[in-house]
Amino acid sequence: MVKICCIGAGYVGGPTMAVIALKCPSIEVAVVDISVSRIAAWNSDQLPIYEPGLDDVVKQCRGRNLFFSTDVEKHVCEADIVFVSVNTPTKTRGLGAGKAADLTYWESAARMIADVSKSDKIVVEKSTVPVKTAEAIEKILTHNGKGIKFQILSNPEFLAEGTAIEDLFKPDRVLIGGRETPEGQKAIQALKDVYAHWVPEDRILTTNLWSAELSKLAANAFLAQRISSVNAMSALCEATGANVKQVSFAVGTDSRIGPKFLNASVGFGGSCFQKDILNLVYICECNGLPEVAEYWKQVIKINDYQKGRFVNRVVASMFNTVANKKIAILGFAFKKDTGDTRETPAIDVMNKFDWDHPIHLQPMSPSTVKQVSVVWDAYAATKDAHGLCILTEWDEFRNLDYQKIFDNMQKPAFVFDGRNIVDVDKLREIGFIVYSIGKPL
Ligand code: NAD
Ligand code: UGA
Repeated sequence: MVKICCIGAGYVGGPTMAVIALKCPSIEVAVVDISVSRIAAWNSDQLPIYEPGLDDVVKQCRGRNLFFSTDVEKHVCEADIVFVSVNTPTKTRGLGAGKAADLTYWESAARMIADVSKSDKIVVEKSTVPVKTAEAIEKILTHNGKGIKFQILSNPEFLAEGTAIEDLFKPDRVLIGGRETPEGQKAIQALKDVYAHWVPEDRILTTNLWSAELSKLAANAFLAQRISSVNAMSALCEATGANVKQVSFAVGTDSRIGPKFLNASVGFGGSCFQKDILNLVYICECNGLPEVAEYWKQVIKINDYQKGRFVNRVVASMFNTVANKKIAILGFAFKKDTGDTRETPAIDVMNKFDWDHPIHLQPMSPSTVKQVSVVWDAYAATKDAHGLCILTEWDEFRNLDYQKIFDNMQKPAFVFDGRNIVDVDKLREIGFIVYSIGKPL
C-alpha cells in the first residue's frame, strides 16, 4: 500500500488529502500538523474549516484510509510520498520584508524530513512558493548525509475556498513539475498515478520544476489582475453613467476573454492573491526586472484604491462623517461559502472608518473592539443603523426583507453594496439611498 503523508492540515492540506483518500482507497493518507487544536478539530464533528461538501468526504474516509495526527515524525518516516502544505506568508521582518515569502515553516519541515527519513521519498511542494524553492529544498534534503534519495516535485494547488471540494473533484488541470532526469520522471509518474484515479490524463500537465512553481504565481497574478481591471473600470463607470455589470457581460462574451472572474467588488481579499503578487514583485526585482515588478504592483495598488474609494463613498454620502453613526456590516469573510477572514477587505474597510482603535482580530471579538458588536442576524445588525455595507456576497443577503430593514433603520437610510448583489431599483423604490459599485448613482 502506498503511504502518503501531508505536512500541514490547513485549508489546502485538509481538503486535498481528504479527496485523495476518498478517490484512492488503496492509498493510506496521514495529515499531520504541529497544531494540536487543529488536529483535534479534524478528528471531531466540528472540522476546523467550513467548506461545502467537506464534512461528507471526511466522514467517508476518516479512520479508514485517512488519518489526522500530531505525530509528524512517525508519519513522515513511514511515507513514500510527503506533501508539504504549510503556510508561506509574506515576510514581516528582514530581507524582503513586506514582499518576499516567508519560507521558515517550509524550511523547518524540510529539515525535519531529512532528519527522520529512513527510506527514499518523493517530496511534493504543495504550498505556493517562489520559483526556485525546489533548488533550496533539494540542498537541505540531499545533505542529510544518510544516502537517502529524495525526488522533489512541484504540485501547486489551484483550489479556491468555498468551492474546494468541487475544484478538487473536477480540476481544470493538475500540474506536476519535476526534474528532467530518469529519476525525476519516475517520481512524476508516481504522483500522476495518484491523480489518475479520478483526473482524466489530458488534465494532468507535466513540466519542469521552475515552470510549475512559477505557473502558480502567474495564475494567481492573472486572476487578481482581472479583478483589478474590472474594479478600475467600475470607477470609470460611476464617473460616466455606464453600468459595470453590463460592461463585464459585454466584455466577457468575447470568447478570448471569457465571462468568469469579472465581478466588480469592494476589492479582492483572501490569504493568497496579495501575498503571491508581492512575492512575484519581489522575484522580479531580484531578477533585475523593475518594469515587470511595477506592472504587477499596480494590481495591488488598484485593489487598495478600490477599498479606499468604497470607504470614501460611504463617508461622503453620509454627510462627510460617520462619527456617532451606526453602520451595519453584512459579511466579514473574504468571499461567500467560507469562514475564512484572512486578509478580508472587510477589515480594511472597517479600519478606514477611523475608529478609536484599529481592528486587528481575526475573527473579531466584540469584547476587545469596543465600537464593534458582532451579531448573527442581518436584521439585528441593521436595527437603528444609519447605513449598511454589504461586504461579502452571501446568498442570504440577496433575499433579505429590505422593507423590514428600511423600516427599522434611521433615515435617510443608506445601502452601500460592495458586491453588487442587491436590486438597486427595488431598494430605491423602498426609499433607500443606494450606492452599488460601478453602477449609476
Ligand atoms: P494554513 O495556514 O491554513 O495551513 C498551514 C498549516 O501548516 C497550519 O495548520 C500550520 O500549523 C501547519 N504547519 C506549519 N508549519 C508546520 C510544520 N513545520 N510541521 C507541521 N505543520 C506545520 O494554510 P493554507 O491556507 O492551507 O495554505 C497552505 C499553502 O497553500 C500556502 O502556501 C498557500 O499559499 C497555498 N494555497 C492556499 C490556498 C487556499 O485557498 N487557502 C489555495 C492554493 C494554495
Ligand atoms: C484564489 C484562486 O482563485 C485559486 O485558484 C487559488 O488556488 C487560491 O487563490 C490560492 O492560491 O490561494 P481564493 O482566494 O480562495 O482562490 O478565492 P477566489 O474565488 O479567487 O476569490 C478571491 C477574492 O477575489 C475574494 O475576495 C473574491 O470575493 C474576489 N473576487 C473574485 C472578486 O472581487 N471578483 C471576482 O470576479 C472574483
